[in-house]
Amino acid sequence: MTQVHPFLDGKAKRMLIGGKWLEAASGKTFETHNPATGEVLARVAEGDAEDIDRAVAAARDAFNGPWSKFKPAQRQAILLKVADLVERDIEEFAALDTLDMGAPITRTRANRARAIGMLRFYAGMATALHGETIENSLPGEMVSFTLKEPVGVVGAIIPWNGPLTAAIWKIGPALATGCTVVLKPAEEAPLTPLRLAELCLEAGVPPGVVNVVTGFGETAGAALAGHPDVDKVAFTGSHLTGQSIIRASAGNLKRVSLELGGKSPDIVFADADLAQAVPGAGMAVFANSGQICSAGTRLFVEKKIYDEFVGRVADFSKTLRVGDGIDPQTQVGPLVSQEQLTRVTNYLNIGRQEGARPLAGGDRLTEGAMAKGFFVPPTVFADVRDDMRIAQEEIFGPVISAIPFTDIEEVIQRGNQTQFGLGSGVWTRDVGKAHRLAKAIRAGSVWINCYQAMDPAVPFGGYKMSGYGRESGVQHLEEYLNVKAVWIKTD
Ligand code: NAI
Ligand code: MG
Repeated sequence: MTQVHPFLDGKAKRMLIGGKWLEAASGKTFETHNPATGEVLARVAEGDAEDIDRAVAAARDAFNGPWSKFKPAQRQAILLKVADLVERDIEEFAALDTLDMGAPITRTRANRARAIGMLRFYAGMATALHGETIENSLPGEMVSFTLKEPVGVVGAIIPWNGPLTAAIWKIGPALATGCTVVLKPAEEAPLTPLRLAELCLEAGVPPGVVNVVTGFGETAGAALAGHPDVDKVAFTGSHLTGQSIIRASAGNLKRVSLELGGKSPDIVFADADLAQAVPGAGMAVFANSGQICSAGTRLFVEKKIYDEFVGRVADFSKTLRVGDGIDPQTQVGPLVSQEQLTRVTNYLNIGRQEGARPLAGGDRLTEGAMAKGFFVPPTVFADVRDDMRIAQEEIFGPVISAIPFTDIEEVIQRGNQTQFGLGSGVWTRDVGKAHRLAKAIRAGSVWINCYQAMDPAVPFGGYKMSGYGRESGVQHLEEYLNVKAVWIKTD
């Protein structure tokens, strides 16, 4: 089925550099596909190192130029304007995200509150940034205070699992703090970031403040991560790429913030409200087809309810409608790409070979129109042991690994036995247990009797190999600011 969308006009999509829409210096383009149907949505400029150079130069000029004179209230007004424009076009954005990366339209529409909420939060923060006056103990009369200054040119590298919100999560704090940005969208889903860049210009963002270079990770991404005139890289993606970002940062010791993968424990005690916990634990993994960094993929269930609970989650998973995300009935869309399909189906095989038992799902779907897309149904593996690869490695698909446990000490220890530490869930009616787990879990977020709650004002980020730095919250703005100490001798 050919989708009609105003942004998909048949023309090759250009990159935004210094306020101009340009082809790649090499003239190359690449295709972006609809993962539900395999159809080509658009050709997109394939930027590489030369384009990154141009974009970084434009961002540097803008940073040193008029943008540095913008008052906080002016940056705030621009962010509020971007928010209004995103709100105006939210249906268009939702459809574009769904077409480009497959998420159900109900999900991409529901992103409205988050997308607009983030932009308005950063707008608010633009006029709330401040240094401090600090008492010092030096002899004589000395005043000491701090200034908060934008770090400068930010390289933002994002994944494909939520293109609109991921782009806003990087551009928002940059505009609020007075930085400039070169955004490198994921090659799997570059369209909404390009459309968002159009709205940035419409909102009055000056040329060069927001630049978007589309292209591949190994070329455009790596060039941005290693660029000597980039002051900071904000990265979201896999931990392996995160490690290469850190290595690339060494040349000029640029600042880095990393939001990486996870293998988050979701812990269900026998005293939980199971009617809530069943769909809660299910959607903690099946939302966005499991393509969420903080998905609760290691489902620990107290032994005395293990069989019943895991059976109920399997039954729940069979009720979910899998299909083309553009259909409003769809609850679980396709995976984003052939690469992800191969990766996830490999893990389905590995799980079986390791002795795990699929209670639901377990194989790619190829019936009818699904043969053309990358569909994997919600899958629940029972009898999973901690040392299995499906219990240790990030699958990034709709796959639950269900593991029994007997007591609280044990589940704390086993829950933390992972290289990652991004999200975690706890289902219990016992307030004492809830507090104990909240402290004991080594992860950046603990969700109790809920999962995946997010708010622009509440910090989100990782422990251990899930990365460092926080996004959202006042902490996020600090990632884009330098602190300068000023001393004045007054006697
Ligand atoms: P990735 O980490 O390779 O890609 C994310 C972004 O980084 C993309 O924009 C990509 O172009 C860029 N990139 C890739 N290599 C780069 C390099 N050497 N230097 C600079 N930028 C580079 O993730 P990918 O390949 O899309 O997915 C692989 C696995 O990573 C997934 O199966 C999943 O396990 C994990 N992942 C985790 C995400 C998260 O939100 N934490 C998001 C996407 C993927
Ligand atoms: Mg990759």
